[in-house]
Amino acid sequence: MSPSEAPNSTDFAFVVVSNRLPVDRVTDPDGNSTWTRSPGGLVTALEPVMRDADGAWVGWAGQADLEIEPFENDGIHIVPVALSEHDIANFYEGFSNDTLWPLYHDVIASPGFHREWWESYVLVNQRFADATAAVSAQGAVVWVQDYQLQLVPRMLREARPDLTIGFFNHIPFPPYGIYSQLPWRTQIIDGLLGADVIGFQRVADAGNFSRAVRRLTGYTTKNPAIEVAVPGQPTRRVVARAFPISIDAQSFEALAREPRIQERAKEIREGLGNPRTVMLGVDRLDYTKGIGHRLKAFGELLAEGRVDVEDITLVQVASPSRERVAAYMQLRDEVELTVGRINGDFGTISHQAISYHHHGYPRDEMVALYLAADILLVTALRDGMNLVAKEYAASRFDDDGVLILSEFTGASDELKRALLVNPHDIDGLKDTILQAIAMPRRERMARMRSLRKRVLENDVARWSSNFLQTLEQARVGRYDRIAPIELPDELEWTVDRRWAP
Ligand code: F6P
Repeated sequence: MSPSEAPNSTDFAFVVVSNRLPVDRVTDPDGNSTWTRSPGGLVTALEPVMRDADGAWVGWAGQADLEIEPFENDGIHIVPVALSEHDIANFYEGFSNDTLWPLYHDVIASPGFHREWWESYVLVNQRFADATAAVSAQGAVVWVQDYQLQLVPRMLREARPDLTIGFFNHIPFPPYGIYSQLPWRTQIIDGLLGADVIGFQRVADAGNFSRAVRRLTGYTTKNPAIEVAVPGQPTRRVVARAFPISIDAQSFEALAREPRIQERAKEIREGLGNPRTVMLGVDRLDYTKGIGHRLKAFGELLAEGRVDVEDITLVQVASPSRERVAAYMQLRDEVELTVGRINGDFGTISHQAISYHHHGYPRDEMVALYLAADILLVTALRDGMNLVAKEYAASRFDDDGVLILSEFTGASDELKRALLVNPHDIDGLKDTILQAIAMPRRERMARMRSLRKRVLENDVARWSSNFLQTLEQARVGRYDRIAPIELPDELEWTVDRRWAP
């Protein structure tokens, strides 16, 4: 449906708000535009909820200065929020991706603290809040997504106290010693506390958040609820706990079972010269992903003759991301220089050491790559979850393949039978790669079965229904029915206690 045919209804009982809309605008050479649904797990999970509950989705269409009226797309009411070039530079590339992103990922890159970026963040968050308030029915449930929109819960509560508001943070929440560097640390906490339920990926993130609340506001926390006591107002409760996100696991498995995808996996191996081992890395080209660490480990193994280029190829998919942010430009140069050097030093006419791809691929091709790969290498230095690890497990219906997984990913809390690594320990990483190459089939299968069980049982539909059920309990005041943040022994080490009061 074109924007001019959009319905006038402005009354939605369930509203999702995210920086990016779940649809992409595609313009053909004649200038005609259509919308295609982005294949992400979030939209797949929320689609049934959207249809049942009369849902709307508020977000940015991904291009500058697109002023578009709300429209319907495949059963979802889409409410575009326009961003100007100035907003993109200051709110999106600046405060979201050059302040919050590095700060929340252990300051792997240095965050920039600029007042004009913060001002833009406030203004754009207000625009999202206004657009949401305008389409939400009386008593609607609103679910705000991610770090770009942390002020929206408070802004919405002020405009519309009748709403039930959830927030989910898809990236880590840092320990207080790091978080406290943010000049606007109290405003962000206050923004988030406008929600009824705040979800995090890991138990550690929820713990870090609760500690930041105690340090900055003095509110008491009665796990899992924070008591927000503002003088002259009744005390409100805000639930903060972990809801580890997942993927649409069944659809990955279903694709992997298709003969055409298996055929394509074979072709991929043949195209690589049929090496004994195909090792795969799949990441947005981001400095949090530890791509340099894995290249270093692989390069050293080749240099030391512990692996032979005739026997092993590393396929690295590095999808373009945030290309106008300086740290990302620099990363691209470093990665591509290193790949070129390793290929120059070790490649032969028939075998490349690294098959490097600076593209995104459609899901079909990704699943074929997962099936073609004997080893998936995830070496993130910090990652909220890492859904690639889960996609690999979901796709391996043959129970084969080895997952090497950084212990600094959210996924490592769940995927315990992966080979867990500290990517900073290059020698340890090299030994783990050799262990994966030599792993007997029986052990590979036992480990993969356990990973698959976890991923298939805890899929993204379960994630969204757990979150929304908790939001409903909060709405009706049944806090006794909400499980507290649990700290089982094996998780305890992930909570940063250095800054605990
Ligand atoms: O989960 C982190 C996240 O920033 C999402 O919010 C976003 O959709 C994705 O990574 C890709 O980032 P971007 O929208 O900046 O391209």
